[in-house]
Amino acid sequence: MAESMQGLKRTHRCAELSAANVGETVTIMGWVQKNRNKGGLVFTDVRDRSGIIQVVCEEGKTDAALIEKAASLRSEYVVAIVGEVAKRSGAVNEKIATGEIEVLPTELRILSESMTPPFQVEENSKTKEEVRLKYRYLDLRRPDLQKNFIMKSQVMTLTRQFFADEGFLEVETPMLGKTTPEGARDYLVPSRVHPGCFYGLPQSPQLYKQLLMCSGFDRYIQIARCFRDEDLRADRQPEFTQIDMELSFVDVDDVIDVNERYLAKLFKEVLDVDVQLPIQRMTWQEAMDRFGSDKPDLRFGMELTDVTDVVKGCGFGVFTGAIENNGSVRGINAKGQGSMPRKKIDKLTAFVKDYGAKGLAYIAIQEDGTVKSSFAKFMSEEEMDALIKAMDGQPGDLLLFAADKNKVVWDSLGALRVELAKQLDLLDKNEYRFVWITEFPQFEWSDEQGRYLAMHHPFTMPMEEDLPLLDKGELGKIRAKAYDIVLNGNEIGGGSVRIHQNDIQEKMFEALGFTKEQAHSQFGFLLEAFKYGVPPHAGLAYGLDRLVMLMAKQDSIRDVIAFPKIKDASCLMTEAPTPADEKQLEELGLSVVSE
Ligand code: AMO
Ligand code: AMP
Repeated sequence: MAESMQGLKRTHRCAELSAANVGETVTIMGWVQKNRNKGGLVFTDVRDRSGIIQVVCEEGKTDAALIEKAASLRSEYVVAIVGEVAKRSGAVNEKIATGEIEVLPTELRILSESMTPPFQVEENSKTKEEVRLKYRYLDLRRPDLQKNFIMKSQVMTLTRQFFADEGFLEVETPMLGKTTPEGARDYLVPSRVHPGCFYGLPQSPQLYKQLLMCSGFDRYIQIARCFRDEDLRADRQPEFTQIDMELSFVDVDDVIDVNERYLAKLFKEVLDVDVQLPIQRMTWQEAMDRFGSDKPDLRFGMELTDVTDVVKGCGFGVFTGAIENNGSVRGINAKGQGSMPRKKIDKLTAFVKDYGAKGLAYIAIQEDGTVKSSFAKFMSEEEMDALIKAMDGQPGDLLLFAADKNKVVWDSLGALRVELAKQLDLLDKNEYRFVWITEFPQFEWSDEQGRYLAMHHPFTMPMEEDLPLLDKGELGKIRAKAYDIVLNGNEIGGGSVRIHQNDIQEKMFEALGFTKEQAHSQFGFLLEAFKYGVPPHAGLAYGLDRLVMLMAKQDSIRDVIAFPKIKDASCLMTEAPTPADEKQLEELGLSVVSE
């Protein structure tokens, strides 16, 4: 039977109590973590978001009816307890913050009972994630998850405070609006009043924040919800949150400067980690050449070496074929892995095939200096020696090569490098390595669409010195004033300087294959706004969830989102998405075409 809390007022959270409260009468409220009845002696662990406190009822000290009631408590009952804080009569529990004390109750109320939960609410739960997500409200009671949300809340508070102090204004932008494209599919919302018409949920507030610059807001910040219908991964959700900002009358360095100070403050206050400023900067080209990735993890080496010139004209057709095809041959040296069993190398070969590689050629240098290699038979001794030398191969090293178009070589070796680092335990979870990646290509060729696409988005400004290439149509060579901030191999944010000159914007749309009509029907309001006085502006957005995931040392973004979706974008708890009923569809002027 659930009782009322009438007349009681909570005085402390459980773990706020300490030896300093001994002798005080307190009122705590929370969930029963564990109840142990030792006949006349009942220990109850009560839990709230702060932690756990032990409550003890003992024959002779506690009223008999109260002992009986305490003995009836079961896991996850919600209780209110009035009692006196005392030094523990038994052994001190070093494992919990309140381990020196206990509460001796004078009143116990059962505010609500609980059925037996489908899994125990405990730290490091071994219960399958599907079950935990179905009962997410119980899962969220677990202290390790609560810790993540306490950190996320702290990050949001600090973010608002920091940017407010820097003169940023928080302005909200619409959820129901015209979609802002960021390269994913849109989520559409049908309009009842305008049958056949749809709002698009924003992939980001990009267009709106640029309009706010036109309106003179000068420095804008928003903790904004974004929606992207794309394939989900461990670091992606269809609905996520950005720390989104835009600044007027600035260039790349201004955006980087304020954000470096922000990151340093955030990491110091939340994690007590010192971020060394300035944060290292690396051009996109250098990142690709050295690490095969535009989000390099700099916590370890194992850099890529371009051996195209070394193997040019060698006897191995895989290498020469790729070079003739305008590709390259690059390798990584897995130091000390020369004795890796063949089976494991085969697994790595299968791994790179997921990234488009056709194979993985290797040279395993034995401790005695002899080599085992998948392609030595095609090479002369001199050619092998030159290749090993170029790779700085020493006895005991494993050299791994990919030959293909640059993109495939970078993608596969870049991913292989990280995979090997994981297998060899080279990643220090306590190290936070930031790097700005700058000078991204403006355009990216899409084989699928047979045209150039914007690598960041169509509003990104090319580097001034590359503008003539736009007129010449040499799109592949144009570098953008775009930057990403990368932490331990994860892109935590990205942004750019925007085009504020109409003529450049028009050329950009043209280069991207938009007709004037298409550009105007999609972005007419922005182009129109730019005709009435637009300041030069630039901005950046962080993925808040990703940032907190890394700060909290979690492997999945789901652990920092209260009610996340699973891989197929559904919610196991609410079972969303669900079919709409006939009446709703009718009102919206929609009918479902079954497959
Ligand atoms: P971008 O598309 O790079 O830039 O997004 C910014 C950051 O948002 C995070 N992010 C995601 N996080 C979780 N789930 C997702 N599906 C997801 N997609 C992106 C990433 C990313 O770095 N308007 C521009 C910013 C700008 O130019 O100012 C934008 O949205 O951490
Ligand atoms: P094959 O001649 O196909 O048996 O290949 C010889 C070796 O080259 C094997 O180890 C393959 O995994 C490897 N290999 C095949 N294609 C490539 C490629 N594009 N890049 C690197 N290695 C490759």
